[in-house]
Amino acid sequence: MYCKKIMIVQTIRRTATCTTQLNYQKAEPSIKLKTHTDSTGVCSPHLSLQLELQSQSMAASTAVTANYVLKPPPYALDALEPHMSKQTLEFHWGKHHRAYVDNLKKQVLGTELEGKPLDHIINKTYNNGDLLPAFNNAAQAWNHEFFWESMKPNGGGKPSGELLALLERDFTSYEKFYEEFNAAAATQFGAGWAWLAYANDKLKVVKTPNAVNPLVLGSFPLLTIDVWEHAYYLDFQNRRPDYIKTFMNNLVSWEAVSARLEAAKTASSSSA
Ligand SMILES: [Fe+2]
Repeated sequence: MYCKKIMIVQTIRRTATCTTQLNYQKAEPSIKLKTHTDSTGVCSPHLSLQLELQSQSMAASTAVTANYVLKPPPYALDALEPHMSKQTLEFHWGKHHRAYVDNLKKQVLGTELEGKPLDHIINKTYNNGDLLPAFNNAAQAWNHEFFWESMKPNGGGKPSGELLALLERDFTSYEKFYEEFNAAAATQFGAGWAWLAYANDKLKVVKTPNAVNPLVLGSFPLLTIDVWEHAYYLDFQNRRPDYIKTFMNNLVSWEAVSARLEAAKTASSSSA
């Protein structure tokens, strides 16, 4: 499956402003991480962080473990208010996401998976749907990082450019895509995720249960919304449809989605 060849190159430089680049490539990552923690040991998005993943050979990357760091969202924890509260970010990122990362570290310690890149662990432990123990924590660690970077302050609304053109081509209109994405997120029974994904030169909406993501389904993920109750209960209680509309209307970073689309197209064409 070609998705096994996917890796992510992300370069984040966060000082007064932040830019994110994400590319899917057929290589393995190495990571240099410089970060700072506050007095409680929490990585603070207010402080400078530099994370670089660069393509290198498989042999050179086997000792990499920094994929298992709890990477902060690319904005301050109160930056999405009033649409997503600081309290939600403190619990969702600071407690839930942290637990997935911490548990993964313990789970792979001393196993053949220790030191392997996160996407490798995800594909290996998906095990064709017969999940191995580390899958849920590995996939949830990846999914949450992808989710934080799917949002930005003052986001949402309608995309533009090539992304809009492809949405109109594959869903007939942006409004139809909006309906389909919202419906997938609203109807995912119990915990899970809804995604915009790219495969075979087409965009599609998929929903997945628990920790499953498009990486194990042969697609390139472009956008996601977390529909686990912990994602919205503090702000919306049981009103999941209101959370989804708020995400689409006020939080989506279409710039991130467009960058992911470009990376997916490049990786897709080079693996053809
Ligand atoms: Fe979550």
